[in-house]
Formats: sequence, C-alpha cells, structure tokens
Amino acid sequence: MFLKEELGIFERNHPKSKKLWEKAIKVLPGGISHNIRTFGLPIIGGFPIFISSSSGPYVKDIDDNKYLDFWNGHFAMILGHNPPEIQEIIKQHLQNGWHFGTNTPYQIELASKLIDDNPGVEKVRFCTSGTEATMYATRLARAYTNRKLIAKAVMGWHGASDTLCYDVGGLVNGKAPLGQLKAEEAGIITFTINQDDSFDMIQKNSSQLAAIILEPILGGGGGFAVNVEFLKRLREETEKYGILLIFDEVITGYRFNDSLLQNNLKIIPDLTTMGKIIGGGFPIGAIGGKEEIIELSSPQSKSQVLIGGGTFSGYPLSMIAGLKTLEVLKKSQQNYSRINEEGTSLIHRLNNFFNDHKLPVVATGFKSIVMLHVMSKWIKNPSFNEILEFADKRREALLQLALFNRGISGLHGLGALSMANTHEHIIQVMNVMEEIAEPVSQSSLN
Ligand SMILES: Cc1ncc(COP(=O)(O)O)c(C=O)c1O
Repeated sequence: MFLKEELGIFERNHPKSKKLWEKAIKVLPGGISHNIRTFGLPIIGGFPIFISSSSGPYVKDIDDNKYLDFWNGHFAMILGHNPPEIQEIIKQHLQNGWHFGTNTPYQIELASKLIDDNPGVEKVRFCTSGTEATMYATRLARAYTNRKLIAKAVMGWHGASDTLCYDVGGLVNGKAPLGQLKAEEAGIITFTINQDDSFDMIQKNSSQLAAIILEPILGGGGGFAVNVEFLKRLREETEKYGILLIFDEVITGYRFNDSLLQNNLKIIPDLTTMGKIIGGGFPIGAIGGKEEIIELSSPQSKSQVLIGGGTFSGYPLSMIAGLKTLEVLKKSQQNYSRINEEGTSLIHRLNNFFNDHKLPVVATGFKSIVMLHVMSKWIKNPSFNEILEFADKRREALLQLALFNRGISGLHGLGALSMANTHEHIIQVMNVMEEIAEPVSQSSLN
C-alpha cells in the first residue's frame, strides 16, 4: 500500500521526468550515464528525476519540484550549489576561451596549493577523474616497487577501471564485473576493513604486494569509517615490508577541513588520489605523494611510467574553480566545524530513533558524510558485514522514493552536508525520517 501510494505521488509530481526517462532508456543503456543515477528507483517501478537547476542547498527538477539536496553533485559541491564566487570567476575566464590542450598557469597554482596544505603531497599529477587517478597511482606503485599485486578493500570504490573494480557493489570474493580479468589474473587481492585477519593477508603476500589502496572512509561502499588503529597498523606493516600505502581521498580530501583527512589522522601515505571538491564542481582527478614516486611519471625520467594521456588533463576551468574553492574553504573553518558537528549529531539521532523503534534502518558516515541503509532485519548496532549481508536494496529504493516525495534528494540514503545546509535542514531530515522509516521498512512491497 505504502509503495503504491508513494509511486502514485511520485508519478503525479514528475510527468516531464517520466517522459524523459522513457526517451532516455531508448538511447542510453539503462537510461543513465552513471549506474547509481537511477537512484535504485526502477527496481520498485519508479524512474529517476531530471535536474534542471541548482542553488545553495537546493536542486530543482524539470517538473519544477525543489529538493533539499544531500547528494551534493556526487560529493563535489561542498560550498553548496552554484556558489557565487565560483560563478563569477568562471564567467570571467570563459571570455578567454576554455580549452587549449596546453599548459596553463593555473595547474601550477593548484598543485602548489595542494603541496602547501599537505605534507604528504610533494608533487602532483592532474588528470580528469578519480578513476584515472587511482588507476595511475597503482601503476606508479607497481613500477616503483617492481611488484605486481595490489590489495584493495572489499567495497572500496575507486572508479570502474579494469585495475580496481573488484569486490564492489554486491560482488564479493574478488569478483569482477563481467568483461574483466579474474582478480588473480589482474593482480588484485582484497581485504576487509577493521579486521585483524587482513594483516595475515598482508604478511602472507608481503613480498609480492606493490600497494595497498583504500579510502579512509568507504564512500561508495556505504559511508563506513576505517578505524584509526587499523589505518595506523596498515602504515606500520606497509613500511615494514616496502609496500606502498595509497589513500584514496577523492571524497575525504577537503571534506572535513581545508586539507586531506590524512593530516588529521596523522598517517601519511606514500601516494594520495584526489578529486571532486578540489575541482570546484568541474571534472578533476589528481595523484599526489612522495616526489621520488610521482617523478617516475615525468617524461624526463629514465624509467618513465606512462601516466601522460588525457585530452582534458589539467582542464583550465577545473583548475580555476578548484583554486577558488580552496581559497574559500581556507576561510571556512567555522562552516567546517558546523557541518561536521551537524552530521555527527544527525547520525547519532537517526540511529537512536531506529534502535528505539527496532527499525531495520541504520545511519553510517563520518562528520558531514551521512548515509542510510535499509536492512531485511533489525540488528542493534549492526557491523559492516551485517549491513552488507542483510542489505535490502528494494526497501532502500523505497526510502529514496519517499525522501524525494518529501522534498529531500540524496543518494546512498542521503549523502553529505554542504556548507549551504543549516540546522533547520537537519531537523527537516530528522522529521521526515521519523515519518517514513517505519512504513519504508515494514510495509508490503507487493
Ligand atoms: C573514493 C573514490 N575514488 C574514486 C572515485 C572515482 O572518481 P570519478 O568518479 O571522478 O572517476 C570515486 C567516485 O565516486 C570515489 O568516491
């Protein structure tokens, strides 16, 4: 009943999106250009909405519905949507042309800024996406160590390259999506975060491991924070065995304060991959780290590692928007503290509510990252493995639908707070969740 009612409301409010969706599935496989952008809705008979504009904490769809948005341009828009400072600088620079396929001064400025802010970043190579950055970082690690094996975390998301797309989104035990080599053929081994037996894997493979790559907070994997103790031990063990440690900070970089998360953790990896926020909402990827490793990618280096392609690498608008964003973030300490605290308290309040009512919903995340999972049964304080094992994807899709119907847009349940969010927005989320968590998790799905 609840599902039917919610689908009815959604259809009534989105006639234009529905029409466009019917067109989209004819010309795009699955109707989308990024798998998660269906928001899961087709599995319960719905369809995704099409966004036409954005401002501050809001996005607006083509049917003129306005949403309080926590998806935040896939975590990139930490200043909120369409921030005036970025608008202004992009407008100014557009007059000069926007793509030259040459060097520009801006890439030196952005690289210098990243180096100044982060002791672990001695040199930087830019590319256009986080996917490329992680692919190149592991290539550098293999070349530097002259070893083949890469260890990645189960559910760690580093983009869908052939190199690292293993044990992601429902595929486990080293599984790769169709069309890719088997993990052992591709030189990939996986481990689980926060588990001691992961160190047995490292010891067993220590002489063959080129690198261990992981996100300090699993993003696409569901907003799970890796314990600091686990990360510290990873650093110790990798140093002991000459294995490179790569932190994928594509989401966490500049999200919690105006530098990489590794500085707060006081754990400096050998290489770091970056993206999203540092491009100010324009396409970007970057690899930073120890000079002697990154320098292998220099065309002047004798043992050159080819990470040289990319028509749009160092894209001028990305460099300019990124620089301006980092400049604004430098002056945003109060906003950082505010959204970090609001996020922490929201996760806490949501989980208290779900537990008090024995509802099989759980909030995960860290500071301003807040995600929601619907499970097939209630477990008090479920573990990472339990949340994955009992994930109820259809109900999670119903949760997204019910949120849209109440003016809240998110993905992975919610996503992340931006600096455009206020305390009132958090109360709004809390109120809506108190209204929908029970019917979402308990009503019939037939
Ligand atoms: C941690 C992490 N690494 C890498 C990527 C891939 O980045 P991109 O989508 O820019 O290729 C993502 C994307 O969501 C990510 O979250």
